[in-house]
Amino acid sequence: MEPHALRTYGRVKGRPLRAGKAALLETLAPRLAIPAGPFDPRALTPAAGEVWLEIGFGGGEHLAGQAERRIDVLMLGVEPFLNGVASLLRHVDQRGLANVRVLQGDARELVGRLAAASLDRVFILFPDPWPKTRHHKRRLMQPDFIAALARAVRSGGRLRFATDWRDYAAWTLERLSASPDWVWMAERADDWRGPPGDHLTTRYERKALGDTAPIFLDFARR
Ligand SMILES: C[S@@+](CC[C@H](N)C(=O)[O-])C[C@H]1O[C@@H](n2cnc3c(N)ncnc32)[C@H](O)[C@@H]1O
Repeated sequence: MEPHALRTYGRVKGRPLRAGKAALLETLAPRLAIPAGPFDPRALTPAAGEVWLEIGFGGGEHLAGQAERRIDVLMLGVEPFLNGVASLLRHVDQRGLANVRVLQGDARELVGRLAAASLDRVFILFPDPWPKTRHHKRRLMQPDFIAALARAVRSGGRLRFATDWRDYAAWTLERLSASPDWVWMAERADDWRGPPGDHLTTRYERKALGDTAPIFLDFARR
């Protein structure tokens, strides 16, 4: 699971799972699994539907909520933390969702093997901030990854990045603005200062651990 030398995440396993979640990993996870190798999610998409990807979905409440709202969308999720994957599976099971696929792993590995222009939308919500300067190289939003995302997202597709660390917002804006592939959609300060209308609050967001109120940056793929 670790082709990249530098980890962008912390733990991959937390407290022992309760029996219900452990059972879902045995029974439901294989049915929702994203296969190894080159992957074109459009092959799984309902007619005329879209494909969205959430990277680092944590407990999965945002992913499940969006999937529930938009049953015409195939929602992909990638998250290295086993307990997070199990938590998403519980949401999928409780809400009876049929439009979710999950990979326990590193988004950099998945994005690299997605078919070109196969995604309509990507969410990266409150990624690990790595606030210390010497850890900035562990941040997910590096130029290579930004270019890999651009390859996987169709022209006109969207990327939403949110953080409650001022410096990580500036870092991301700087790197995406330097890329020829992305256009920042904001027209006025209220577009990035508050949650967009279709946002669902995440667990990490509620903890408010950062140094600013959440900042939401929406980009379009050129
Ligand atoms: C601070 S948490 C936020 C979780 C969730 N988005 C939320 O807002 O509650 C960041 C998440 O990103 C995941 N993550 C970090 N690096 C990742 C990577 N390379 N690929 C996928 N997920 C990653 C971590 O495991 C963690 O669950």
